[in-house]
Amino acid sequence: MAQTILVVDFGGQYNQLIARRVRESCVYSEIVSYKKAFEAVREKKPAGIILTGGPNSAYLPDSPTIGRELFEMGVPVLGICYGAQLMSHVLGGKVSRAAEREYGKTEVFVNTSSKLFQGVSESTICWMSHNDYIEAPAPGFVVTAHTAGCPVAAAEDAARGLYLVQFHPEVLHTQQGALMLANFVHNVCGCGFDWKMDSFVEDTVAALRAKIGDGKVLCALSGGVDSSVAAVMLAKAVGKQLTCVFVDHGLLRQDEGDQVESVFGPGGPYDLNFIRVNAQQRFYGKLAGVEEPERKRKIIGEEFIRVFEEEARKIGAVDFLVQGTIYPDVVESGLGGESAVIKSHHNVGGLPACVDFKEIVEPLRDLFKDEVRQAGRELGIPEYLVSRQPFPGPGLAVRIIGAVTPEKVKIVQQADAIYREEVEAAGAHKGLGQYFAALTNMRSVGVMGDERTYDYAVALRAVATADFMTAEAAALPWEVLARATSRIVNEVPHVNRVLYDCTGKPPATVEFE
Ligand code: XMP
Repeated sequence: MAQTILVVDFGGQYNQLIARRVRESCVYSEIVSYKKAFEAVREKKPAGIILTGGPNSAYLPDSPTIGRELFEMGVPVLGICYGAQLMSHVLGGKVSRAAEREYGKTEVFVNTSSKLFQGVSESTICWMSHNDYIEAPAPGFVVTAHTAGCPVAAAEDAARGLYLVQFHPEVLHTQQGALMLANFVHNVCGCGFDWKMDSFVEDTVAALRAKIGDGKVLCALSGGVDSSVAAVMLAKAVGKQLTCVFVDHGLLRQDEGDQVESVFGPGGPYDLNFIRVNAQQRFYGKLAGVEEPERKRKIIGEEFIRVFEEEARKIGAVDFLVQGTIYPDVVESGLGGESAVIKSHHNVGGLPACVDFKEIVEPLRDLFKDEVRQAGRELGIPEYLVSRQPFPGPGLAVRIIGAVTPEKVKIVQQADAIYREEVEAAGAHKGLGQYFAALTNMRSVGVMGDERTYDYAVALRAVATADFMTAEAAALPWEVLARATSRIVNEVPHVNRVLYDCTGKPPATVEFE
């Protein structure tokens, strides 16, 4: 088993990025709530611990905290932002409210003789985001970095293996942050370079096999990247004990149901038990007249689970349900520590409280999308599947603003197929994270063939993003947009207007609902 760095979560926004940067340094990393830190240290015997940022003030009585024994276990600890303040507070330093908030890219002056700053420039740009500051570090600590407004931007008690930084080395705005984290895990914690994506695949397949034993497993397969990778991983672990259920909820892209069946169904490259459930009418019935986005999501999420439960009962004695949930789904559903709910992603927040399985297995829960794709390549999944653009679990329901009807589904399917075809034909899809059409519930007046029309407006969207947590609207060539527009209004009945969405995330989200 690879050496582990334990990331102790205090509710910061960037916690998973910390784990990810550590993994990028070829060291395995896991996140654990601060409430379970001691248990996790005892169980996992980590080579090092990182305390994350968080929204609280370390000196207030109700703030998340940790006993000082954590710093006395002989395991090196790096505190970041709130974690740095907490470490100082718990060990007898002084943390106070800063007169002025320090926020954004900031020049930091570092002592390069620190193990943490080996190879870092003496003056380097770091990302700061804090209201409190360390007025005086704890006894035994020496200050190793400062900024114009922050006397303790980093400090350490090297003899005890305790390090802290007020800034965020995990975000890309901190220009040499990845190097600092690599220094911590390799120079301070003494970790080797023994973790790679293929070891993640191997370790996870082995862990799945051990966990599942001779139990039966049901996999929720959507044909998207995440559930496909999860399914192939499970097939590798337990072979025919796995049954993949593909629910066609009538909210898929044009021809998608048949495409998924041709890849995962009988005669395809994988030796899976595959069941396709055609549940279009059932979903349309449940969604009839429902306009509120969160209600739509919950209905679809719940109905999905019900369909799976029914299939499971037919198979009999199914112990485990596998889902392709990935990390951004978890964060945005408000389950990644103390972050706010943005949307209830189906697979996570939409899950009913009572589920008729022994356990839900989510092997990709800690990974970002590009890490999932990498795992897919390691598993030998064909590139056209691995690099497919993401498609949300609730499908076109979140791309149809307001109530869903079969007619509206047809409109958005056709418009979306045309748009994607034109973007791809022009080669404009390279570098895009997602590009799709949505149906607004706006109708407006137009004129076609000398006649007045009163029809729907389709919205086209294209975004560039690395991790889907933030995204920028892409400036697609005008000719591509013009060609897609002309084809959509000519070929898709009941559309007389096409709009282009120029909004990034934030303030918008990628999907419309
Ligand atoms: P948003 O709209 O939240 O989307 O900015 C971020 C990424 O997540 C996808 N998405 C979902 N994926 N179930 C999923 O599996 C969902 O409920 C869901 N909602 C959004 C979205 O397509 C984008 O890639």
